[in-house]
Amino acid sequence: MQKSDLDAVMINERLAYDFPCSASIMANNQKRYYCIVFEAPAEGSQPAEILGHAILSTVADEASVINIAVSPKAQRQRIGYQLMEDILAYAGSKNCVEVFLEVRESNRPAFTMYHQFGFNEVGVRRNYYPSKQGSEDAILLACYL
Ligand SMILES: CC(C)(COP(=O)(O)OP(=O)(O)OC[C@H]1O[C@@H](n2cnc3c(N)ncnc32)[C@H](O)[C@@H]1OP(=O)(O)O)[C@@H](O)C(=O)NCCC(=O)NCCS
Repeated sequence: MQKSDLDAVMINERLAYDFPCSASIMANNQKRYYCIVFEAPAEGSQPAEILGHAILSTVADEASVINIAVSPKAQRQRIGYQLMEDILAYAGSKNCVEVFLEVRESNRPAFTMYHQFGFNEVGVRRNYYPSKQGSEDAILLACYL
């Protein structure tokens, strides 16, 4: 993810989440963390288009998935899966041994994808996320690399 990608990334972020992160948080993430985009190549008169993004932080031998999102129009095309493969490979290349992430309790698509990568539930953060009903628990998942 380049600085010049941020506008396109924020469009996808806002489409993908009911409660997206702010543009300033995204810009900070882009400076601090390992951030990647999935870009569909230009085809004929269609210009190249950013369809997904993923962000990973690494500290010592632990990594955390900060964000992974795919534009709704491009979901279920294995883009999220490819982004996960990339960031987990990066975590391995930095000698991380464990990866953590948080997911909304209601987020079945994400859970299903994370289970495919061997993530298991290791904790709960009560009322962690804002939701239309008020708040929602975050489930903490972890996997060993
Ligand atoms: C979660 C998310 C990133 C998945 O990306 P995606 O590109 O649509 O997912 P993929 O096509 O790579 O799917 C990978 C696997 O995840 C599971 N999955 C993905 N979407 C699913 C859905 N809607 N229902 C059930 N399973 C789903 C499937 O097991 C799928 O494997 P399969 O194709 O063999 O069935 C995407 O749904 C998204 O951006 N959601 C909004 C943002 C979000 O919730 N991010 C996660 C925050 S913790």
